[in-house]
Amino acid sequence: MADRAEWKNRAYEICDASEDAVGFDEIPTPGLKSAIRLAARLSIAGAGLYLKSLWKRERFTHASGVGAFGIARIVENDRIPKNEYFKPNRLLSVYLRHGNLMDPPTGRHPDDRCLNIRSASIKLNMESGKSVDFIMNTGDRCPFWNGPTVRDFAERVHGGPQRVQEWLRINPLYFFNSVQGLRKAPDSYASLSYYSQMTYELTDVDGDVHYVRFRLVSNQNQVPESGLPSYEDQRKYYERNEEIYSFDDEPDIQAKPINYLRAEFKRRFVHVDDDDAVSASAASYRIQVHPLARHSTQTERLDLFNMGKAWLDDEWHDLATIDLHRLLDDDRTEQLQFNVGNLPPCLALPDAPSYEDYRSIGHVRKRLYSVAQWGRLVAPVRRRSIDEAEIEYQVTVTTMASKRGGYAGRAFLSILGSRRETGFIELHGSGIIGRLARFHEGKAYEFTIAARDVGTLEAVEFYLDNSLDGWYIATVSVDKTGDTALFPAYRWIYGHGIIRLGEAKLIFDDCGYLKVLRELEKQKWRDLLPWHTWEDMPSHAAIRQHADLPRDLQFLDEKMVFFYEKLDEGKLNMLYNKIRDWIGAPLRRLGQIQLLRNIFHWEDEISQYSRFFHFHVGNNEIPEVAKRWFTDKEYGRQFLQGSHPTAFRRVVDKIPDKFRVTDDDVRGVLGRGVTLEQAIRAGHVYIVDCKELEGIPTAEGRFIVPAMGLFYVNAADEFVPMAIQLGQESGPHCPLWTPQDSVNDWLLAKMWLRCADSQIHQMKDHLLLTHLVMEPFVISMYRNLPSVHPIHKLLLPHVRYTIAINTIGRLKLVGQNGLADQVLSIGCGGHIRYIKECYKRFNFDLLFLDHALDDRRINDDVDDDRLPRYYYRDDARRLWRVLQQYVDTMVKVYYENDDAVVRDTEIQDWIKEVCDVGLPWHGEDGEAEDEEDADSRNRHKVPSRIPSRARLVRLLTCIIYTCSAQHAAQNFGQYDYYAFYPNAPMTMRRPPPTEKGNTVEDIVATLGDSKNVSMQLITVWLLATLGPEEIYLGDFPEEYIVEGEARMAQDQLRTSLGKIEAEITERNRGLEVPYTYLLPSRVPRSIAV
Ligand SMILES: [Fe+2]
Repeated sequence: MADRAEWKNRAYEICDASEDAVGFDEIPTPGLKSAIRLAARLSIAGAGLYLKSLWKRERFTHASGVGAFGIARIVENDRIPKNEYFKPNRLLSVYLRHGNLMDPPTGRHPDDRCLNIRSASIKLNMESGKSVDFIMNTGDRCPFWNGPTVRDFAERVHGGPQRVQEWLRINPLYFFNSVQGLRKAPDSYASLSYYSQMTYELTDVDGDVHYVRFRLVSNQNQVPESGLPSYEDQRKYYERNEEIYSFDDEPDIQAKPINYLRAEFKRRFVHVDDDDAVSASAASYRIQVHPLARHSTQTERLDLFNMGKAWLDDEWHDLATIDLHRLLDDDRTEQLQFNVGNLPPCLALPDAPSYEDYRSIGHVRKRLYSVAQWGRLVAPVRRRSIDEAEIEYQVTVTTMASKRGGYAGRAFLSILGSRRETGFIELHGSGIIGRLARFHEGKAYEFTIAARDVGTLEAVEFYLDNSLDGWYIATVSVDKTGDTALFPAYRWIYGHGIIRLGEAKLIFDDCGYLKVLRELEKQKWRDLLPWHTWEDMPSHAAIRQHADLPRDLQFLDEKMVFFYEKLDEGKLNMLYNKIRDWIGAPLRRLGQIQLLRNIFHWEDEISQYSRFFHFHVGNNEIPEVAKRWFTDKEYGRQFLQGSHPTAFRRVVDKIPDKFRVTDDDVRGVLGRGVTLEQAIRAGHVYIVDCKELEGIPTAEGRFIVPAMGLFYVNAADEFVPMAIQLGQESGPHCPLWTPQDSVNDWLLAKMWLRCADSQIHQMKDHLLLTHLVMEPFVISMYRNLPSVHPIHKLLLPHVRYTIAINTIGRLKLVGQNGLADQVLSIGCGGHIRYIKECYKRFNFDLLFLDHALDDRRINDDVDDDRLPRYYYRDDARRLWRVLQQYVDTMVKVYYENDDAVVRDTEIQDWIKEVCDVGLPWHGEDGEAEDEEDADSRNRHKVPSRIPSRARLVRLLTCIIYTCSAQHAAQNFGQYDYYAFYPNAPMTMRRPPPTEKGNTVEDIVATLGDSKNVSMQLITVWLLATLGPEEIYLGDFPEEYIVEGEARMAQDQLRTSLGKIEAEITERNRGLEVPYTYLLPSRVPRSIAV
């Protein structure tokens, strides 16, 4: 043996060949004949391999091996052509297996010592379901390079030493190239260099093709390659081939156990579990790339594919580092299957036009590997050496009770423990029928797995061979001698998936491969859920349509069916109205006028209303509000208790100058002897100011006005309108409108204010301040908190489907020709501009209930009666309080102290990404209000770090509250108040009135036409109906959380919510119109509509 520097390949000398005379045969011009030969050879070889694999059921080459699991990190390197797959800093899982190319002839045991080509097979990125495999061998060139040379090799190499000798004599290059790769008794698999030998085409981001080869080298510096064959070894190989298996004259080698190389590799992992850093690994490598782009002629280009030739040795560039953290048990190692055809889209092994072409090797290998592996897949696993007694694991797999949640295909499970893992064991029922049967949704399947003791249970791993079908798994429980361990999944498994034990773990609670699993899960989500950022908007998932979302983020089929059924119903209603319009067009206008005339005598005329609207949605139900909408008492009540409960604020000092209201104007409402100033001082005056609509463009033929309204809590504790101004500046053309005006004038003014308010409600308080600002927290959660993280488990129930509904909303609601374009006055672009304007002013602090109430000057003490009957505030406070208690307990269960929060890099990454990317500040960097502000928050006041448990509790409470209660308060009143169009028109078709004296005809001409009415109706019908599959606040049907203390906190939350439910129900009993939007049993736990 000799070091690489002084070592020499003496093959030509030994076989007495002149180096100059050695060369490659000319490749004939491809023709039909050679193409047919290639296809024929491929078919024959395929059929042969298929039968042979069924018979043999194990590897044809590299039979005995050793495998491990770890992580690869793509490095930053300018020399690597920029491509879509190997992106700098990307993390990929790695399964790596080392082996020896050929076993000794029959009758001998696999022997690690003898002269042999060694291999490293690498499988990257198993998590994605599509792995990328490389099979590499020692030696920078291959002993065969096209169809005919493979045939020479394959025909003789399994035939024993004489046949090998025969083969070596066919062509000196076979011998020379073999010697390049042969290693005798090397020190370690982990210190050799392995070459892909085949040439790949790598397409860069610009579409240019580069010709590349790969190799794997040790990451330990300065390790000279051991095992290089001496002159005598080389000679022996050529002349006395059988002697390479005997070491009688080499006592050092003789003394080594025949499996010493595998044993050395395994010993590396003995202490690796104690390491707490991902970088500390048992074996460390670098994948390198040789990008050779120089070619000018066709011949040269073809020559690049010649595996028989090496490429210059000094052109290798680092592509990735590999660190191995977990040894695989032999059973599991032998189940690893590598296929050179598994490649990402940017990497290819090109097809060959002929049998003689250099590309024919890649052409054939990528087609034949899966065929050759067929037998290993269909036949039962062959158990390898079993040196310990087996125990029985009782495994129960529960499938989610959801449509298409079941799975049809072969399923395998491996149990991972602290000591080892079981091999993949097939899950199926008994008998042929059991084997072929489907795993049905909503069912539990029990299996008994006999295997060696894996130690403390840590995870279970699935492999599903039907890559088209997923399995929606709820839980897996594993019972080991009476102790049951729960593995909560509640997710779809496609292909391959690991589910960890139920106990939540912070990053510093995990070590070794478990830490690697965390990193890989985060990387998976970073790949699946990229950010889309745009100016003046919260960032969102860069996925255009619902169907393209990762399956775990999509709505279940049930929800989609319900949604589309409702949409169909809505469309039917619209069609009905269209037909009605067509038939009754001449009468329609008259009908509308008649309707409004009748409204003034409403109680008797409900049938008139029903005839006009003809609801086909909601079982012809006419909303309750239609019976009383017309009165001032009801108008005011809706601002206080309706679908947009955050529209008004208290006037604390004086009414803004722009709103010219005098005592005389409102005397009728204030009552005798009360002045405006007194009413303000008493805290009884409130304002709705739609200033933010100023300058927002409207759709063609539609109008809006930045109206203002003044409200008053009268002596009967009613919240009633006093005055309305249809613009921000009073003047001759912007008069004040009050109840003293004519019935028509006052009604029209109220409609304009409601119309303005509805735009703000829909686009700001509902869409922006719940849906859109919550999504970044969800995206960042997936990207930064692995599913085993306690805060992931805590948040998940409250953020489920938020990305899904927002993705649908972006396309169907606010996208081009979406519902907003059709129902809002500010649709067709104005609505986006308005959201952007609002986002510029967005203040994260105001999502906190107490800050929001302070800001509106209505954060009164509980016994303060200045603003009675404001049930939204009363109920919201109750919910906030119990949610905060719940979160507080949870956070204390998982974080020992403030320091634990600070040290939790994952939770810090989570909030930092929300601050920097999710809810970014695009404005100028103004003066920070205080030091902390500058240090830890952006100008939207989104924190960039979490310094303590208390701050984490507040933040999480805010998120859960916003996703549940706040959204429910803004969302679920939509049908009640908007379905009856005149009550809350979202579209006006005429400019606002500038003078008094409006008629019923004017009102009708201003209100939306029948299409507007229908569209508004469908929209609120779709958005505000609680679905049959809805899960409400306090319900935890999934067992994400298993810790006793945390489960008790969930129970406590349910109890507290039960009390709130009783209190609200009791209060509602005495109300003419009960306030139910924050009744816990009606508050969905997440934003899902
Ligand atoms: Fe919503």
